[in-house]
Amino acid sequence: MLLITAITASCVAVGIAMFKLSNVRDIDVLSVVSNVLMKSRCTNLMSRLGLMDALRPRTLSKVVTPNGLEFITVPNFKVLVGHVWNFTARENDVYVATYPKSGSTWVQEIVWLICNNADTETARDDFLTRRSPFLETVDVGDNLGIQTLEKWPLNSTRIMKVHRPYEILPADVAVKKKGKIIYVFRNPKDVCVSYFHFHDVSYSLPKPGSWAQFLANFSVGNVAWGDWFSHAKRYWQEFIKNPDHMLFITYESLKSDLRAQVTSIAKFLGKDLTPEQISTIAKHCSFASMKGNGKVNYEHCEDAALLDFSKGKFMRKGEVGDWKNYFTVNQSAAFDKLVEEKMRETEIEIRFELKIRRSMLEISL
Ligand code: A3P
Repeated sequence: MLLITAITASCVAVGIAMFKLSNVRDIDVLSVVSNVLMKSRCTNLMSRLGLMDALRPRTLSKVVTPNGLEFITVPNFKVLVGHVWNFTARENDVYVATYPKSGSTWVQEIVWLICNNADTETARDDFLTRRSPFLETVDVGDNLGIQTLEKWPLNSTRIMKVHRPYEILPADVAVKKKGKIIYVFRNPKDVCVSYFHFHDVSYSLPKPGSWAQFLANFSVGNVAWGDWFSHAKRYWQEFIKNPDHMLFITYESLKSDLRAQVTSIAKFLGKDLTPEQISTIAKHCSFASMKGNGKVNYEHCEDAALLDFSKGKFMRKGEVGDWKNYFTVNQSAAFDKLVEEKMRETEIEIRFELKIRRSMLEISL
């Protein structure tokens, strides 16, 4: 009798465990495994021993998205493609959408402050990666992703970073137009240089190879998050069609007049800011201030063995025109031709350098 009870109890327990496991999502498994590795300090030790490079992806993965688009991503992000597509959006969501290395972190901090009464004290108390999660990742340590966003309190605004092309944003956003999108555009030469360096720093990306190899890959879209040209073009088309749903701003205009851009982002989000609040945000979000701010400069990702800062910092140069230090004359001419060909049908003004305004010159003379 005892034996039969024990066998029945074991069968029920195994049944329940199997039922629970079958309900566990692949993204949650990925998150648990990553957190366990991190908490056990396994990755940290490997990073100190210089072994993390061995775990880097050697190649990128091509994924066919639920709506039939081919998308190039890093292997770890593969499982997320379908989940993000099915993400339930809310009317009060804000998406900071960018091609990587276009100023996402900068604008996430600006948007968070606009939505939180320019409260720089609270901002300095918590990581930006916790206040403004990345929709396309799983929760790992202080870097929050899709699981946290799914549980975010209904009464508080979700400010999310997203890199994917417009076509494969959550269907609720791309098709039903829920929430607001702020697209940050940066001139592609500076994006390419910044991305080249970031491939050295991030353990999630393959090694960049030589500058010439990386530029060749970037030019044909053979990098994570795919083709820069179609990314920018598609978001621009959406902005032209639906300016209430999307704001299109540029890295270069943030550099040339941060206060004006903070004002226009606030207007787009329907937030009233006082001139003092605008000044507070502009000061807090200057490159020098953000570079020295441990809550936004990704330093904590070095401790978590996600980034290798011995290869360079996340807040690297923060300039317009650094590409001139990398592109040869021939590379620059060939790239200009490509830009001309691919961006012909858009009216985006691409600024490869910041011209000094005449009035400013006169003042400084
Ligand atoms: P560089 O590598 O050219 O310095 P993202 O956040 O999308 O990954 O973009 C990172 C780029 O934005 C890096 O460019 C980084 O230095 C720059 N950046 C971040 N904060 C900035 C700020 N406050 N002012 C200017 N550039 C900033």
